[in-house]
Amino acid sequence: MHTGTTLQMPQGFTYCDIAGKRVLVTGGTTGIGRSIARMLAQAGAQVLIFGRHEKELNDALQQANEGTGKELVKGFIADAGNAAGIATVFAKVDQELGGLDVLINNVGLPFQGVDKGSYEEWDYVIKTNLLSYMACTHEAMARFKDRAQLIFIGSMSAEVKDKNSSVYTATKAGIRAFVQALRKEVEDKPVKVSLVEPGLVSTDLHEMPEEKRTQMLEEGTIIHGEDIALMVWFILTQPWYVNTMMSQVLPLNQKL
Ligand SMILES: NC(=O)c1ccc[n+]([C@@H]2O[C@H](COP(=O)([O-])OP(=O)(O)OC[C@H]3O[C@@H](n4cnc5c(N)ncnc54)[C@H](OP(=O)(O)O)[C@@H]3O)[C@@H](O)[C@H]2O)c1
Repeated sequence: MHTGTTLQMPQGFTYCDIAGKRVLVTGGTTGIGRSIARMLAQAGAQVLIFGRHEKELNDALQQANEGTGKELVKGFIADAGNAAGIATVFAKVDQELGGLDVLINNVGLPFQGVDKGSYEEWDYVIKTNLLSYMACTHEAMARFKDRAQLIFIGSMSAEVKDKNSSVYTATKAGIRAFVQALRKEVEDKPVKVSLVEPGLVSTDLHEMPEEKRTQMLEEGTIIHGEDIALMVWFILTQPWYVNTMMSQVLPLNQKL
């Protein structure tokens, strides 16, 4: 968690209110997505999250709504890795939010190099990590009215292209290319497009012993989901004419 003194905005500086915004966070039940949902609830937004596991969903809902006195974050079970799952997600968006102002494409699965796995496994990872981003963007844009925002959680992997990560890296490089072309596609529309590429973040994506996690946090080689949520907060609270196109948020001492 964060340490240090909590400060107000510097005097004379303001930010835009996101209270009441209707937001879908794909895969918001653990890790970075859960931190984003928690941040959004604190800021008064109405949020929908989903994942495939009931316990993690319930924990996320309890944590995100805690202290707000409201049920600002709602959630459900759905699989982003197939078309029926995406249809379920947007039926829920219509039912629970009655429209959409912000889509945060965050859902993601890890995967190693192409020497591991099978055709079916790569198919599922690509459908979850990349195709769901396209499908959710399509559905969200059909619902956007007035000013809207698309945020994509990519990865520094698109830049670094680590050894033994070719399948995962391909999906994240695909997201980067999709976002860059999409920005041109929507340039006549009041839709902002932002890509956030995290470095190493302490989440369920990385299995490791607790002592190792603590050691990496102390060394500054891994960061928290909240650190990414703060970047998302920054993006969402800018004036309507400011678009944060691309941001990379990584640990101070992560080797590139
Ligand atoms: N952690 C890092 O170091 C890091 C670095 C760069 C980028 N990222 C990116 O950040 C995003 C969030 O990852 P994270 O680190 O927060 O990992 P995480 O804790 O494992 O979160 C992944 C989320 O996606 C959900 N999910 C995965 N596959 C799904 C599917 N097919 N259908 C529906 N939900 C699914 C998970 O819930 P269920 O398992 O219950 O479905 C969970 O809510 C990912 O796009 C990841 O690639 C992470």
